[in-house]
Amino acid sequence: MTLNRMEELKCDGTERITVDYVKGILQPTPTCDNWDQIWDFQARPDDLLICTYPKAGTTWTQEIVDFILNDGDVGRTQRAPTHVRFPFIEWVIPSIGSGLEQANAMPSPRTLKTHLPFQLLPPSFLEKNCKIIYVARNPKDNLVSYYHFHRMNKALPAPGTWEEYFESFLTGKVCWGSWHDHVKGWWEARDQHRILYLFYEDLKMKPKHEIRKLGEFIGKKLDDNVLDKIAYHTSFDVMKQNPMANYSTVPTEVMDHSVSPFMRKGAVGDWRNHFTVAQNERFDEDYQRKMAGTSLTFHFQF
Ligand code: A3P
Repeated sequence: MTLNRMEELKCDGTERITVDYVKGILQPTPTCDNWDQIWDFQARPDDLLICTYPKAGTTWTQEIVDFILNDGDVGRTQRAPTHVRFPFIEWVIPSIGSGLEQANAMPSPRTLKTHLPFQLLPPSFLEKNCKIIYVARNPKDNLVSYYHFHRMNKALPAPGTWEEYFESFLTGKVCWGSWHDHVKGWWEARDQHRILYLFYEDLKMKPKHEIRKLGEFIGKKLDDNVLDKIAYHTSFDVMKQNPMANYSTVPTEVMDHSVSPFMRKGAVGDWRNHFTVAQNERFDEDYQRKMAGTSLTFHFQF
């Protein structure tokens, strides 16, 4: 990244990141500037990649995976904040660093994070047959969560009003592109590659079942004690208090939790507190059209 760009990203309470396009997908400008290196990322066969559309439960899944890899040991999972334990490969943020550099410096076996849509995944992940965990969340809650995240995170553009953001999300004019294309792209790819496709709502409804599934995919058999321990320590209330998992270590100039906490509500169905009746009808009509023909289904509330 050039110094100019870094200067541009200095957050003084008013400045926001700029955005640009990579192959038709909106991305923070520093990601666009570094795209060639990101695309050339050299995966290793024992890399474990967690991939999501933003706000689909990435951090939660990262915490569960780290607990599984560390056999439920709380001390080891608290060795560093999430973004250090799981380099975010396409992310560049001056005060935190570059995910690419972090990943390249990390000893194997590595745990990595990306929000890239399937068509933008650096090809070496598939060439090396890496295990990939994809997590999807129902789009109404995903939208609400992303809106509040934009409000508190200066490393994303300002969201505008709720009404404006609603339209941006529906038209895919948000960072990492269209939610619909993202979840469908990864869904279609899941059978051809080593992809475990999970859902936020399942994690919420039956955490132990999903944690066991993750353990099997990773290749770790978890006894009941460890399973209980992981479910407890990765619950919303416990993670919210854990500085190594709640993003409170990120400078306030980037993430301002007083605007909206990173660990906000952690609920299924919160969209009902945000959507108007007209917005819900518009969303449903658009959803039917864009999701026609896919076998992918979501729980919008319990
Ligand atoms: P809300 O904004 O709806 O509360 P990501 O990690 O992909 O950025 O996703 C963040 C969303 O996941 C936030 O949703 C956050 O509260 C929620 N989340 C994080 N940890 C969670 C947990 N243990 N249980 C349930 N939701 C969790």
